[in-house]
Amino acid sequence: MENQRSALLAMGFTILMLVISRSVAVGQGIKGIVGGTGRARSPGCKGYACGGSSSHCCIGAISDYFQTNQFESLFSKRNSPLAHALHFWDYNSFIAASDDYQPYGFGTAADGKFLGLKEVAAFLAHVGSKTSCGYEAATGEPLAWGLCYNKEMNSGSSYCDENYKHTYPCAPGVAYYGRGALPIYWNYNYGEAGKALKVDLLNHPEHIEQNATLAFQVAIWRWMTPLKEHQPSAHDVFVGFWEPTKSDTLAKRIPGFGATMNVLYGDHVCGQGENEAMNNMISHYLYYLRRMGVAREEAGPHEVLSCAHQVAFNPSSSSSP
Ligand SMILES: *[C@@H]1O[C@H](CO)[C@@H](O)[C@H](O)[C@H]1NC(C)=O
Repeated sequence: MENQRSALLAMGFTILMLVISRSVAVGQGIKGIVGGTGRARSPGCKGYACGGSSSHCCIGAISDYFQTNQFESLFSKRNSPLAHALHFWDYNSFIAASDDYQPYGFGTAADGKFLGLKEVAAFLAHVGSKTSCGYEAATGEPLAWGLCYNKEMNSGSSYCDENYKHTYPCAPGVAYYGRGALPIYWNYNYGEAGKALKVDLLNHPEHIEQNATLAFQVAIWRWMTPLKEHQPSAHDVFVGFWEPTKSDTLAKRIPGFGATMNVLYGDHVCGQGENEAMNNMISHYLYYLRRMGVAREEAGPHEVLSCAHQVAFNPSSSSSP
């Protein structure tokens, strides 16, 4: 009996060790790795576990602090008759989609305060701002209209870039217009996302508008994945898993919500001074934090929230490496 128990314990230990050593390899090798890791919630936090050299560590689960009623409160108008994706989005889809990424720190990075919760609010702020139809609401809360869409409406374009015909050839009869929680466009983005998530999005881009879990998965993949090698992801710049270099500092890029807009939208939004697109995302972020019960001070000063004076990581005018 006793022997059996210690054998079991030893086995458990071996498994734990395997998990830990794999974590280290993943964490150091590929930052923001995504996709294909199975559904199970990992016991640790890959590359980010407590006790490591990092000042941050990962604990708990998003569902520990973010529940259905909060989701409902953030997106309270999404099923109103004016909305365009009635009964599509729900809390469970978000949680299911985040499952693969929580072990990599999505919503689970801890700083002893509200970091995980703030990251969820920040991610959802991007989502809410991109999928809002708040302008349609003449009255009421304009910030309560996130997740009003799940796809771009009335798009005349097929968003097929022939430059990628060898890597990501466009399928006949389909269009790669904006779909999802953080809408993606173009065959090459559908191709990349599909490869990471092991779903054939190139031939079936419509899957994103039919499946809310997938729609959130693509968005979280985008959040967790650097656009280019040697660049941080939106997740990295938000949780502080990114050390600005001298040139970052000269370019006024500092960790925080502002830098997430820089990663995702570059000079379409950042380095343009105060502008509506940027301020709309910031407003969503502050609104969500408030609804989640986090005090305004926790969001940090405007210079951290904003990217008004940041130079883009990837300037759109030049073909920088
Ligand atoms: C929706 O997408 C998820 C995640 O990719 C997948 O596991 C699930 O099977 C899909 N559901 C349907 C009905 O296709």
